Amino acid sequence: MPLDVEKIRKDFPILGTTANGKPLVYLDSAATSQKPRQVINAVSKHYRKNNANIHRGVYKLAEEATSQYIKSKEQVAKFIGADSYRSIVYFRSTTEAINAVARAWGDVNVDKGDHILITEMEHHSNIVPWQMLAKRKGAILDYVKLSGSKFLDMEDYKSKLTSKPKMVAFAHVSNVLGTINDAATITKLAHEAGAAVLVDAAQAVPHMPVDVSEIDADFYTFSGHKMLGPTGVGVLYGNEEILEGMAPFHGGGDMIRTVDFQEATWNELPWKFEAGTQNIEGAIGFAAAIKYLKKLGMENVREHEKALTLYALERLEQAGVTIFGPGREDIEKRGGVISFAMKGAHAHDIAQVLDSEGIAIRSGHHCAMPLVTRILNEPAVPRMSFYIYNTRAEIDAVVAAFGKVKEVLRLSA
Ligand code: ALA
Repeated sequence: MPLDVEKIRKDFPILGTTANGKPLVYLDSAATSQKPRQVINAVSKHYRKNNANIHRGVYKLAEEATSQYIKSKEQVAKFIGADSYRSIVYFRSTTEAINAVARAWGDVNVDKGDHILITEMEHHSNIVPWQMLAKRKGAILDYVKLSGSKFLDMEDYKSKLTSKPKMVAFAHVSNVLGTINDAATITKLAHEAGAAVLVDAAQAVPHMPVDVSEIDADFYTFSGHKMLGPTGVGVLYGNEEILEGMAPFHGGGDMIRTVDFQEATWNELPWKFEAGTQNIEGAIGFAAAIKYLKKLGMENVREHEKALTLYALERLEQAGVTIFGPGREDIEKRGGVISFAMKGAHAHDIAQVLDSEGIAIRSGHHCAMPLVTRILNEPAVPRMSFYIYNTRAEIDAVVAAFGKVKEVLRLSA
């Protein structure tokens, strides 16, 4: 069913505001999504009516806050096809979740001379924690190459699996190219080679139906703030058996069962990984975000973004800009993220001129410097990214603003 975008837009107070005197056109949802009033109200209601710390007090208010927090995890588990909230750990971000795995799992399972295999299209959050692990342990970090600067080269992947990596970590959807990787096949091949698998799904879960039981990765990570929720909640889904066997990442209150002067024992899952007071309001807002997305239907969200992306690719082609990532013919393998380049114009200049027209896009290396600077061979690229509230008219506004970019930068038409 097509999304009723005009109705959806009414739920987002920020979309009724202006930027630089023009109606706001928000095309940076890959960085963070906007929030509907349902999420804003859930957070506000928590502070007005239910605020207390979780897992500590035995009084009504604390019990209610604890129950809301657990319900949030139950909703997340259901949303991604996980069996139980025991496999859902909250961290601050996807980045922190990956760092937790690189430390808590990596330090125990990766040794000197072992290989860790990632890809050339990773975000820094799925590169640097593995670089750090490799340096700590004397391990070797390998990269799966790209073919045509668009897709993972599966032949290169298979050949690199022969080094028997201990971990294969990859993005489900690239935050620069928009490429949707075949997570289930990549995972299956990695498992056959004896590797554990971590998927950075920060750009996948907000935009399409996902089922962790089908993908079968050991670790699957994503962030609430890119899917209508508040900032500060990153999800680590982990295979329960593996999580059980892992030591905690952070130590402190609530993650323990007992503490003595020299020793401590750990709490049960998932609490063993959540030390200290958690982002309770974030979890409650996240639950409201998931409820909102479920009501829309993730198939419908994906269809909406696919149609917008096709339209945008066509308009950008007509405008004569260089487009990175899969083309229109590969729309089934492309999410709603479009990075591009305009001859003679620096990415930041383009973003600045668009900003003067009220249009928010991101420009830079998008926390994927190896991909942008070495594979795309650009110092920076402008990027627009779509979500449930974006319209064709907003894409038209971008293309119209290209005229102003050319005028301001004195580029020939
Ligand atoms: N990872 C986010 C992005 O691509 C912040 O913009």
